[in-house]
Amino acid sequence: MKHHADGAALGEFLVSARSLAEYRAMFQLSDRDLVGRRILDCPGGAASFTAEASALGAEVTAIDPIYDATAAELAARAAPETERAVAWAQRHAGRYRWDWYGGTAEHATIRRGAAARFAADVRTAPHRYLAGALPSLPCPDGAFDLALSSHLLFSYADRLDADFHLAALLELTRVATTEVRVYPLLDHTGAPLDELIDHLRTELHDKGIRTSLRKLAYEFHHGADTMLALHTTV
Ligand SMILES: C[S@@+](CC[C@H](N)C(=O)[O-])C[C@H]1O[C@@H](n2cnc3c(N)ncnc32)[C@H](O)[C@@H]1O
Repeated sequence: MKHHADGAALGEFLVSARSLAEYRAMFQLSDRDLVGRRILDCPGGAASFTAEASALGAEVTAIDPIYDATAAELAARAAPETERAVAWAQRHAGRYRWDWYGGTAEHATIRRGAAARFAADVRTAPHRYLAGALPSLPCPDGAFDLALSSHLLFSYADRLDADFHLAALLELTRVATTEVRVYPLLDHTGAPLDELIDHLRTELHDKGIRTSLRKLAYEFHHGADTMLALHTTV
């Protein structure tokens, strides 16, 4: 992360702020997956996963192009971006299942808490937040045990094509020695992407990378109850 103001823009992607509890649910993460493990969160956005998992003993690095800004700028942007995300979810409430959260108010509380935790962590532990972008990450091969990627791939399939998805997934397998986990497998309107997913799994298989689909107990967008795992060790 830069430590001077350079006017970096957040861009068109929503910078959302999910919590460790949401990451645990989306990625089926146990304490065993976290404690003492080198974990990449890309895109990190304004999520509090990095702060919270680090507090548990994980060694987490978050990567996102927005981190090309000062800690003060990132902290200032987290709250309004979270309000944008909360407003979007409430405007389209019918697209989502609210039972995991309890309701729209509880969802907003979790997201606001996560944004606040992120804002505090970028100030106190800026070394955890690295500016970078898929499909070319500023990390050596095998820098992490596990890579997590939520709400960029598939979510923005309206503007990120199949070649980008494949390049991004291959890049994540380059930097993670054991596994890459990706969620959700729908776009941000909730549309399924079965053809894209089949295409990517075939391409990965042809490159010697085994993939699996895992059903989750978590489902926010209706039908978003599955995670894609890429197994980087045989
Ligand atoms: C919806 S947020 C998801 C953040 C976090 N994973 C979460 O679930 O709360 C999407 C993020 O993707 C980031 N992003 C956009 N293009 C990217 C790229 N090429 N590589 C990595 N991150 C990117 C955006 O800056 C934004 O913070």
